This record gives sequence, structure tokens and C-alpha cells, in this order.
Amino acid sequence: MSEENRRFALAERPKGLIDDNTFVLETGPVPEIGEGQALVRVKWISVDPTNRTWIGEEPTYLPPVRIGETMRALGLGEVIASNNDRFPVGSLVNGLTGWQDYTVVSDDNPLMVVPDAAKSAPPATLLGVLGMTGCTAYFGMLEIGQPKEGETVVVSAAAGAVGSVAGQLAKMKGARVVGIAGGPEKCAWIKEELGYDEAVDYKADDWKRRLAEATPDGIDVDFENVGGEIMNEVIGRLNINARVALCGLISGYNETGRPQAITNFHKLLINRVTMKGFIILDYYHRFGEAIRELSQWVSEGKLKSEQTVVEGFENLPHALNMLFKGENKGKLVVRIAD
Ligand SMILES: NC(=O)c1ccc[n+]([C@@H]2O[C@H](COP(=O)([O-])OP(=O)(O)OC[C@H]3O[C@@H](n4cnc5c(N)ncnc54)[C@H](OP(=O)(O)O)[C@@H]3O)[C@@H](O)[C@H]2O)c1
Repeated sequence: MSEENRRFALAERPKGLIDDNTFVLETGPVPEIGEGQALVRVKWISVDPTNRTWIGEEPTYLPPVRIGETMRALGLGEVIASNNDRFPVGSLVNGLTGWQDYTVVSDDNPLMVVPDAAKSAPPATLLGVLGMTGCTAYFGMLEIGQPKEGETVVVSAAAGAVGSVAGQLAKMKGARVVGIAGGPEKCAWIKEELGYDEAVDYKADDWKRRLAEATPDGIDVDFENVGGEIMNEVIGRLNINARVALCGLISGYNETGRPQAITNFHKLLINRVTMKGFIILDYYHRFGEAIRELSQWVSEGKLKSEQTVVEGFENLPHALNMLFKGENKGKLVVRIAD
């Protein structure tokens, strides 16, 4: 176990993809804990597109990470010393750990103790299908999208962490599900392994025609992860009373300035579409119910999950860029300790 605490601090705000100047790796002593605190050895870090939005100039739903501050991130770790009965030694905890080896938790800075029922799951899935990612798919698809039997659902970034779960949930509700993903390998995977009805490769020249062919009866639910041109095309095919679960706009996260305009916006009016943006933190108090149900479906084999694991603390910055190059399948995590 590391005797020092390594951390990546934000050095400068990136323009476009992050580069060697964005973060600085610093080492310092392992923090000492005071009354009411517990020390956590961080073992796994969740790599999320929103990490990139947290280091931009503009506040999002959280304030930007400050220059010099440890990079903010979700992670999973084990309590190794404790002065707080809520966080007993040996317990697994999940929450905002940051890009560092050790973090201190307390009642003011709580992490969620992983329930016993979920402890036997592979650690990477506790950050994926059985963590924040799975909850995003669950509430976004089931409560906002509300797919019904026979309806057509489109999921963008369909082979990614949230998308790969969201599409399967819509299938479980009896919908016809079309995924949009980059490249033939991901498209084959979502159809053959995850049970999507159709897959559209947005990197192919004729992807707009393929989307039209794959949605002959229009689109009733858009689970939107990407934004930009993909979202514009999907909105152009929405049916009357369609729902848009506006989950993410990843195509714009490395851009400076405003996201691309949606020229098909008038379709929302004409077709009485409901579009709802959501931030999963608002559902935090309901994570228990979602994780119970998701765990059940995983254990019954109804819901498949996939992880891309990057090894080594030093690879965290590289891993973040992987999301924007489509180099992950399912949930992207970094293992920083055994
Ligand atoms: N609202 C919330 O609370 C919430 C919570 C979690 C996540 N999200 C959002 O959900 C979306 C998916 O997140 P995730 O964690 O599941 O990540 P992810 O989908 O596992 O990873 C990102 C994927 O997006 C695709 N992508 C990247 N740049 C793209 C572009 N310019 N155009 C089209 N596709 C692109 C890539 O797949 P391809 O190879 O297919 O291009 C990449 O693998 C993100 O927008 C994220 O911000 C929102």
C-alpha cells in the first residue's frame, strides 16, 4: 500500500482535449484523521464525461474545480482507519473521492457505504451498472423516457456506460430499441450482445439514411447522450407526444462556446414533445431503490454490463480523453490499487 498520497491537481483549464499541462501529479503525506472522520484507501476511479465539464471555465451543476485543487471524481475505496461508527474499518464506500490515493470522509463529507447485498459484485460494476451510471439510465429511461410496449426508442452513445444500460431497460419494457454508436464493432455488440433491434453507426457516411430506415415509424423516446448533429437528426424524427430524456451533450464538452443549435427545434412544438433535462444527483435519495432493482436484473441475467478497465493511477488523465475518442465500451474505470 502506498505510504504517500498521490493526487492529480488541476494546473490549467484545457482548451479541447486535456493534455500534459492540464494536471500536475503531486505527492504528500497520507492524511491524518480527526474526531468523526475516517480514512479511505481509494481503489477504483470512475471516469465520466462530466469530469471534463468540471474543469471548464463555466459553473455547471457544480462549481468548477479550482486551479490547484485535487481533480474531482467519483470513486470506490475501503475504510482503513475510522473514528466514525457510520464508516467502520473494512467497509466499502462509494462517492466523491477525487483523483487521489486517500480521502477523508466524515458526516460533513459522506460517502455511501456499499450495502452488503452489493458487496459481492465486481468492484467496477459498483461504479457502473450498480452505481451512479446505472441509476442515470434507470431514472432517465424509466421515469422520463417512459417507454411503452411497441414504441420506438433511440439511445445515443449506445455502447457507452449509461447508454448500454438504458437501451436494455427500454427492451425490458417491450420497446423497439435503436442504438447510435461509433463504428461497426460497437454496433455489432449492442445488437448481438445487448439485444438492441437496430444499430446505426454515426461514423458511416450514410448514417442519416440508416437512422431513417431503422425508425420507419418515427421515434417515441430519445435517450439523449450526445447532442449536436445526432440529436438534431433524432429530434427531426420524433412522433407526437414523444419524450426526450436529456441526459448528456458529450459532443460539445471539449468545445468552447455554446452547443450547436438544433435546427429541428420546431418539431418539439408541432409534435407536443416533452423534453426534460435531468441531473442524477437530484435522485440521490432514491439510489437505494434503483440499485436494488438493477442488482436483481443483473443477477437474473436480464441486464448485461460491460467495463473497460485502465490500470494505474498515472493513467487517469489519458483515461478521461478515451471517452471523447470512443475508446471505451460500457463503463470506463481506472484501477489504482488492488
Ligand atoms: N445527467 C446526468 O446526471 C448524467 C449522468 C451520467 C452521465 N451523463 C451523460 O451521459 C452521457 C454518457 O455518459 P457515460 O458516462 O455513459 O459515457 P460513455 O457513453 O461511456 O462514454 C462516452 C461515449 O460517447 C461517445 N462519444 C464521445 N464523443 C462523441 C461525439 N462527439 N459524438 C458522438 N458520440 C461521442 C463515445 O462512443 P462512440 O464510440 O459511440 O462514439 C464514447 O465512448 C454523457 O453525455 C454524460 O455527460 C449524464
